Amino acid sequence: MKTLIVYYTKTGHTLEATKATAKGIKDAGSEVDILEITKFEPALLKNYDSFIVAAPCWDGGITDNGVPKYVTRVLESLPEYSLHDMRCGGISVHASKGGDTTVKTIGDLLNEKGATDYREGPVAIAGTPLSVDKGQSVSSEDLERYKIFGSRFVE
Ligand SMILES: Cc1cc2nc3c(=O)[nH]c(=O)nc-3n(C[C@H](O)[C@H](O)[C@H](O)COP(=O)(O)O)c2cc1C
Repeated sequence: MKTLIVYYTKTGHTLEATKATAKGIKDAGSEVDILEITKFEPALLKNYDSFIVAAPCWDGGITDNGVPKYVTRVLESLPEYSLHDMRCGGISVHASKGGDTTVKTIGDLLNEKGATDYREGPVAIAGTPLSVDKGQSVSSEDLERYKIFGSRFVE
């Protein structure tokens, strides 16, 4: 199985979570590429069996969406049914609350494009609420949770 993780980040915490997830995937003996979402093109999906979207929580603590608009636009631009035979996942980080909403919304967006096997991944505390101040990094305990998710994702 070969997995693509696309990530969106302003202050680097989602990349920390992405790298830990990728490490878990590699440790399980599976292949993975990570890609900043602005470099993603839907045509790339044909090279992969599975797809994980990593996004910080934006307004998930105060709305029922929580996904940065840029990420939403990219996922909405995927061709219809393009994910129908792909295992999919979502991970997030948040400063205090709402990341679970982000992970759920990522799933809704992927399911709209035909995903039938969406796996909700971890959410960890990092950063500063409603701000692009860097704030605290993802803790080593939480990095371990992403790693475990990555390994289980490819089982
Ligand atoms: C526009 C915006 C909205 C945010 N909304 C929330 C929120 O609803 N709940 C929360 O806990 N953190 C919120 N945050 C904080 C980020 O989720 C947090 O800082 C995260 O670690 C940033 O990830 P990044 O370093 O990958 O950009 C928000 C940040 C921004 C910039």
